[in-house]
Amino acid sequence: MKRVVVVHGPNLNLLGKREPHIYGTRSLDDLNQTVRDKAGKLGLEVTVFQSNHEGEIIDFLQKEAPGSAGIVINPGALSHYSLALYDCLQALALPVVEVHLSNIHAREEFRSKSVTARAARGVITGLGFAGYELALEFLAKQE
Ligand code: DQA
Repeated sequence: MKRVVVVHGPNLNLLGKREPHIYGTRSLDDLNQTVRDKAGKLGLEVTVFQSNHEGEIIDFLQKEAPGSAGIVINPGALSHYSLALYDCLQALALPVVEVHLSNIHAREEFRSKSVTARAARGVITGLGFAGYELALEFLAKQE
């Protein structure tokens, strides 16, 4: 069975409570349920991880991503500055889909730049939970 990893970065543990007018009222558990349901329908095995710490995310990816079919990652604010996460994603050499719940191009100027996106096959931004489902669909189709 194809396996994919899904990673949520800093502050995504606060989903549902954090700026609900931007990120919605559903929680990270709700998002992970959506991810698991979609993965099940696509016949994918999924490993989900959230951390507020850059190094923990890198450790997780180095350990869990090799041998997987790809990565769905919402790096949160790390997208805007983490060259260490960018290097990690590049080193893994796997298909990566970067997802943002909100449209990072329609918000503060600093959000429209993602340094990690360069390591991704594509970026889905602004489509909420549906972005994760679309990312899984893409990875399910990869050879
Ligand atoms: C986010 C957008 C980032 O700018 C922000 O720092 C987040 C969430 C999103 O999902 O829209 O934490 O990645």
